[in-house]
Amino acid sequence: MKQNRLHSSKRRTGRAITIVVGSCGSILVGCGPQNFMAAGGPAAQPIAWLGWFVLIAFIVATAITWGLLLWAALRRRGTYETHASIDDDGGEGWILIGGFLAPVAVLTMFFVVTLHILHRYPMDEGQGSPEIHVVARQWWFNAHYRVDGRPDLEVTSPTEIHIPVGRPVQLDLASDDVIHSFWVPKLHGKVDMMPGFTNHVRLQADHPGTYEGQCGEYCGEQHAHMRLFIVAQTPAEYVRWLDAQRAPAAGPLDPEAKHGAEVFQAAACPMCHTVRGTAALGSIGPDLTHVASRRTIAGGSIRNDMANLAGWVTHAQTLKPGAQMPNITQFSGEELRAVVAYLQTLH
Ligand code: CUA
Repeated sequence: MKQNRLHSSKRRTGRAITIVVGSCGSILVGCGPQNFMAAGGPAAQPIAWLGWFVLIAFIVATAITWGLLLWAALRRRGTYETHASIDDDGGEGWILIGGFLAPVAVLTMFFVVTLHILHRYPMDEGQGSPEIHVVARQWWFNAHYRVDGRPDLEVTSPTEIHIPVGRPVQLDLASDDVIHSFWVPKLHGKVDMMPGFTNHVRLQADHPGTYEGQCGEYCGEQHAHMRLFIVAQTPAEYVRWLDAQRAPAAGPLDPEAKHGAEVFQAAACPMCHTVRGTAALGSIGPDLTHVASRRTIAGGSIRNDMANLAGWVTHAQTLKPGAQMPNITQFSGEELRAVVAYLQTLH
């Protein structure tokens, strides 16, 4: 009996330690791929410095406070009567210094350091011509790439924004409906995307890779499913990607995908989606000309694979309630398979 109780209390202590260590670990690791404390470019660097400075100052202040608390708790033991009277000039200095002067000093230090870092933050006033125009919508980001100012050469890339690595890229940020916020924690601070107003950022990634982002301002039901990916590539890869995106959709070769293309064109799909090189010219939903080249669908909320494409076509309102994409329930199983096969040929 006693043994059992001892075991269960040991187990409880073990579990408590696991929870404490686990939570500290997750705080320190941050949000993984969206950890702003691990900067991937010059605009994120000052924010990361500020984050580390505040974290370390917080740990030091907490350690001092707990140290004093423990000291006070362990310092003297005795009865109530044996202690000095509380009115006996006891501890006014402590209250003045610990309760007033120390917090004022610490908060003033944070204020001055924050002002200093804000002053050094690379602001972009929008001089020069933007390379990429990003428009936010409920609930996805659409990147428009202009080529030599020629509208006929414009391509759009939903959810994935490719940039060349190692140099600043100027982005214009706007919104088509409500206020959203452009936020790629490893590369830049949050910047609002507002209807009727254009903001500018200079985005730079120092290393090739994919940087995850997220809408940073509550914008409705599916705010949490409004993600984005910055794909930083070497200049040569970036040019290759842009050239591939500029090309119209390749016609499907195998019979199933060919059938899928016919089903796609005959259904409501072309009213909302564009597939360049075909009669589909809708602009409500994402451009599907190269949908198979993207890693996710539905504003970055699900992986781009056969099962999710079929699920998205038939049950968009279950996967992302409130999205503009309706449930398309008119297809037979064979037609649905063909449409998905067609979408997967659009590289
Ligand atoms: Cu868009 Cu939150």
